[in-house]
Amino acid sequence: MAPTQRRIGSGFGAHSTADDVLAGIDLSGRNVLITGGYSGLGLAATRALVRAGAHVVVPARRPGVARDALRDLPRTEVAELDLADLGSVRAFGDRFLESGRGLDIVIGNAGVMAYPHRPVGPGWEAHLAVNHLGHFALVNRLRPALAGARVVSVSSSGHFLSDIRWDDPHFRHGYDHWAAYGQSKTANALFAVHLDALGAADGLHAFAVHPGSILTPLQRRIPHEEQLAQGWITADGRPADGFKTPEQGAATAVWAATSPLLDAHGGAYCQDCDLAEPATGDDMLIGGVKPWALDPGSAARLWRLSADLTREAAFS
Ligand SMILES: NC(=O)c1ccc[n+]([C@@H]2O[C@H](COP(=O)([O-])OP(=O)(O)OC[C@H]3O[C@@H](n4cnc5c(N)ncnc54)[C@H](OP(=O)(O)O)[C@@H]3O)[C@@H](O)[C@H]2O)c1
Repeated sequence: MAPTQRRIGSGFGAHSTADDVLAGIDLSGRNVLITGGYSGLGLAATRALVRAGAHVVVPARRPGVARDALRDLPRTEVAELDLADLGSVRAFGDRFLESGRGLDIVIGNAGVMAYPHRPVGPGWEAHLAVNHLGHFALVNRLRPALAGARVVSVSSSGHFLSDIRWDDPHFRHGYDHWAAYGQSKTANALFAVHLDALGAADGLHAFAVHPGSILTPLQRRIPHEEQLAQGWITADGRPADGFKTPEQGAATAVWAATSPLLDAHGGAYCQDCDLAEPATGDDMLIGGVKPWALDPGSAARLWRLSADLTREAAFS
């Protein structure tokens, strides 16, 4: 059954920050892993989680850059991980498991957008590989450390742009970087649906989130003129109305990782620190969730495809 998508009245909203949703929550002694937790939304989430007392593991494609970004934060650790490289994912996962520690929260946040058509690994489309398959392999590899954990998959209203292209997921034909991003963000949402179904017996719950629209290094491949034309920035380069700060953008993922209100809503798609409503249109700034991002049959099918591709599926 698809998760029920109706706002539950969390008391938080689009303007809430990650600190707001963590007020009164003590994460001392809790271990959190957040991919890309050294840039944009991930960095804002790491800061808030550390302030709430958590120990935060930050796997990083560029460990030197990550160490610099996190230099002033206590209780953080950086380790090398390239989500586009399965060998790197496995090596990171195995090293973490050897440490004997458990994880209370995993936030699959790292992502790329508007990449040129440059397949990675065994010919995989790069958005699908980094945004979804790398996280799929990582979470499955870390499975022994995840009993009772919350896993948050950072999706996007970009999922409006494409369902899973079952007949051509790697864009052998007709590459379009927005469709590729959109497919990967649908995959992020479906990953949460099926992971929650498989993990529930073990106390593991998974959620997908749309953070909102936020100017971060994610847009670095989009020319200034296109950002202007899309209405993302004003003529003087400031974020357009309706855009969030990184601290507001990090709030929904942190809320999904910690809110007791979500205990009965495993697999759900969240936005503005609440469950998202079904999308009623195609305006990505308004958001909501499309049916193809929640479909349990698609979620199970994507799981099988991802397991075949990565040879990782500890959850079954
Ligand atoms: N900003 C928005 O408006 C928005 C809206 C909806 C959804 N999102 C989602 O929010 C998430 C965070 O985005 P952001 O805006 O914070 O962007 P960001 O600042 O560019 O952060 C993305 C992070 O992903 C990491 N990453 C990229 N490729 C990687 C790889 N192969 N292996 C490991 N890590 C890799 C980046 O590391 P490097 O810097 O070393 O490359 C960076 O730390 C993404 O999943 C994005 O799709 C963002």
